[in-house]
Order: sequence, then C-alpha cells, then structure tokens
Amino acid sequence: LASIEVDVSALEPGMSLTVKWRGKPVFIRNRTEQEIEEATGVELAELKDPIARNANIDGAAPATDLARSAGEGKENWIVMIGSCTHLGCVPLGQAGDFGGWFCPCHGSHYDTAGRIRKGPAPQNLAIPTFAFTSDTVIQIG
Ligand code: FES
Repeated sequence: LASIEVDVSALEPGMSLTVKWRGKPVFIRNRTEQEIEEATGVELAELKDPIARNANIDGAAPATDLARSAGEGKENWIVMIGSCTHLGCVPLGQAGDFGGWFCPCHGSHYDTAGRIRKGPAPQNLAIPTFAFTSDTVIQIG
C-alpha cells in the first residue's frame, strides 16, 4: 500500500492518532499552543540533531519547529514515523522530560516537535511524505 488517507477531523488540539503505514506506526498529533510554544522556544544549538528530517522539505533544512510541523498555517499538526531512531521501539506520547515522546526501551526523550533531546537515539523522529488533501484529511505517502 503506497499511500493512505487519514481523516483527522475528530482530533482536537491535544489529541493524537496512530495509524499504520507501510507496516510502521505513524503518529499524527494536533498540538496545543503550549506545545508549539515550548518547541519554538528551543535554540537550534540546544538540539542533538539539528536537521529537520522532514521528507517534505530540503533534506538539509534545520530542525526548527516550523520545519518539523505541517508548515505555515498548520504548525499545530505534526506527523511522524513512530519508530525510535535508536533501535526502533515505539515511543510513548506526551511523556518524558520534554513533554513530547519517550522511548521506554533505553530512555530516549523527544520534545513536542519530535526532536531527540536526551538519551541514546541519534536522530529526530522521521517525518514521512504527507500532505493535507483537504482541511481534515491527510494523505501519508
Ligand atoms: Fe528507543 Fe533504544 S529503541 S531508546
């Protein structure tokens, strides 16, 4: 299955959905204002992995919050492969020291933009190719 369409109309701010795509979990989260503010307030120099890891933009783009999100006007949406970049466990949402995701396997902490902040994981959670096909439908892949 090359691509899937996901209806996100039921996701209020602060709600997430996990879907399966190409055998992997994909996290879709409608972030709260506070989560976005926390992520935008982080200096790039503080990041362990300063690359956006977003398949939809330039591969060398810096990992700003905007570059990790669904983009201008859709900063609240974040779509990521739910596979820890250490050894592939599935991180838990709204957990860990940075309020984003936490991988319980070996203790990797990701922030509210899915950027690795602490622990053994080397990279930010990967962002797959996706696009909004309407205001409430996301096509992944
Ligand atoms: Fe996530 Fe090791 S697999 S910390």
